[in-house]
Amino acid sequence: MTTPKRYLVTSALPYANGPKHIGHLAGAYLPADIYVRYLRAQKKDVVYVCGSDEHGAAITIQAMKENTTPKAIVDKYHAMLKSNMADLGISFDIYHRTSEPLHHETAQAFFTDLNDKGFLEQHETEQFYDEQAQTFLADRYIVGTCPVCGYDNAFGDQCEKCGTSLSPEQLINPRSTLSGNTPIKKATKHWYLPLNKHEDFLRKWILEDHKNDWKSNVLGQCKSWLDLGLQPRAVTRDLDWGVPVPVKGADSKVLYVWFDAPIGYISATKQWALDHDKDWKPYWNDKETKLVHFIGKDNIVFHAIIFPVMLQLHGNILPDNVPSNEFMNLEGDKMSTSRGWSIEMEDYINDFVKQPNGGEQLVDALRYYLTAIAPETKDSEFTWKGFQDAVNSELVAVFGNYINRAFVLMHKLCGGKVPKFHNDLMDDADKQLLADILTTKATIEKSIETYHFRDGLAEVIALARKGNKYMQDKQPWITAKQIGDDGQPTEAAQALIDNCMHICLQLAANLAIFINPFLPNTAKKMCYMMKVVDKMLDWDNAGTTKLLSVGYSLRAPELLFRKIEDAEVAAQIEKLQQKSNQLKMNEQSTDAAETPAAPILKDTIQFDDFAKIDLKVGTITAAEKVEKADKLLKLTVDLGFEIRTIVSGIALHFTPDAIIGKQVVVVANLAPRKMRGIESNGMILMAEDAAGKLKFVAPNETTNNGAGVS
Ligand code: MF3
Ligand code: ZN
Repeated sequence: MTTPKRYLVTSALPYANGPKHIGHLAGAYLPADIYVRYLRAQKKDVVYVCGSDEHGAAITIQAMKENTTPKAIVDKYHAMLKSNMADLGISFDIYHRTSEPLHHETAQAFFTDLNDKGFLEQHETEQFYDEQAQTFLADRYIVGTCPVCGYDNAFGDQCEKCGTSLSPEQLINPRSTLSGNTPIKKATKHWYLPLNKHEDFLRKWILEDHKNDWKSNVLGQCKSWLDLGLQPRAVTRDLDWGVPVPVKGADSKVLYVWFDAPIGYISATKQWALDHDKDWKPYWNDKETKLVHFIGKDNIVFHAIIFPVMLQLHGNILPDNVPSNEFMNLEGDKMSTSRGWSIEMEDYINDFVKQPNGGEQLVDALRYYLTAIAPETKDSEFTWKGFQDAVNSELVAVFGNYINRAFVLMHKLCGGKVPKFHNDLMDDADKQLLADILTTKATIEKSIETYHFRDGLAEVIALARKGNKYMQDKQPWITAKQIGDDGQPTEAAQALIDNCMHICLQLAANLAIFINPFLPNTAKKMCYMMKVVDKMLDWDNAGTTKLLSVGYSLRAPELLFRKIEDAEVAAQIEKLQQKSNQLKMNEQSTDAAETPAAPILKDTIQFDDFAKIDLKVGTITAAEKVEKADKLLKLTVDLGFEIRTIVSGIALHFTPDAIIGKQVVVVANLAPRKMRGIESNGMILMAEDAAGKLKFVAPNETTNNGAGVS
């Protein structure tokens, strides 16, 4: 595309069914935010839209889990996601929601348009139906065994274990998630988008027109879908939560969530336009708009194949690019909120940003690490140690250190003001650094415009590193030792110092512009230190050494970043382990509730608790019934070092004669207790089976009385 007139940038609408983790942030939100901040700094006409995806089974099933209504679920998580994103500096122009009436109208009008133009087909098919719940079972309402990997809890639309995308018919032993029953088949009528009719268009548009500018992971997925052949895809569902199908008599049906959600980008744009007294139409209809969808890899088919077909048929522009990231793993495993193996945005905000030693610098610290390890071409891995290293050895030791030294030296050697530059004294090192600023600018532009944010950020750090080296080589603090009679540096020395510090400060100002799309809070703080307004951050200003005027006095330096301590890393790793263990245990106890015979464990104890119990082997040498107590036997037990009397509630299970001579295990340090007037000194260990039958716990071979058990 030649220079676009305007940009419309979207990030995948997250389901409002729970907290989202930093893998989501790194996948679809942070890269888009960097992109739009860069475009805004270039004074482009750009609108960045997003919002909560509030329909579909993801929501209704969460409502069942939390024992509440879908409405309560979306209200709760929409508010959470909106504020988390804002806290992490994601600068949407609007964060909308698909439950808004404006969205319902927009999605319905879209459907009606395609339907009226004859672009949709209606088919009657047999679908799974739960007779008890009296409802059809689509997508996640049906589970069964995955035909590909054998996982026995695969959803009707996808196996979460192996990732295969499925249809309910493919599941082996399908069951309803509502009742657990085996569903029956029942006829129902739905609207379909005949993707098969658009294969030629898609092939040309994706595999030819975009073969050079789309990422290879996106092209690869599209190619394999197209090679397999596309099928008509149902765009309606029998559900009672969603956008009602706008056709008479179809009022018990709703639009499929993947039909309505992407239209959410359009409704969000409309709402933004209403709020700002703008026209939304050119953003979706004018070919000179560059539309870019930022997504995670599980969303590729919807944004590169299905939604484009919808847009094309509806007469809208098509996306210029669909940059999709791979997945970010965490400490050696797949990130997953449901398994507790994740870092929720909310948790990072609470544990770091909102702490007394936190603040916006820790927002930028996270943005830094997530961008530095972004899974742009292959899966990557977040580790807390890696986070600490990146922050401490790059942000603090290179970037932060450069800015701090430049400001400290300027105050020490140049009276806190931007010194003059003596052109006649310019040397090769100066020229080289100025040239580096220009090259860096061009490289960052290219990186961001081709969605290589990692590379762009690495360039910024590399330039700061060059700044450090320049300063180190010039050693203005040594030059300052050439003093004259007045005890001040000589005029010649001061001129050299001034040139060095002038360049260092102009570089600092350039670095603020370069870092701004990535770490906006840092750039803001640098502007404050330089006493300049945000306008200085305009991208066009970069590349010059005229950013700070000579003689202008600057503030004292403030540290841009703090180090991440070992203890913080350890605490987070511990927290992660605990969270996932807790969930595993909960899962086990839920299983136990469904199978009543399964054992239920008492609370975990520490080894020290167990070590307090003194267990000894003894032999029963005498046994007799206790008068007027059906259940009790009075036992005499030889523990080797003493003879004990123990009263035991086993009379219904054993006759006295049958147990004399048996070895048993005794809790030997149990406090004495009187039963029916007899003092009992200890307790005999018994095993009880599911039917309540008792067996003695004993060494598997006879041993000496008094032997310890541990
Ligand atoms: N809610 C979906 C997900 O989290 C993404 C929807 S993107 C949209 O996977 F385009 F449909 F909005
Ligand atoms: Zn599977």
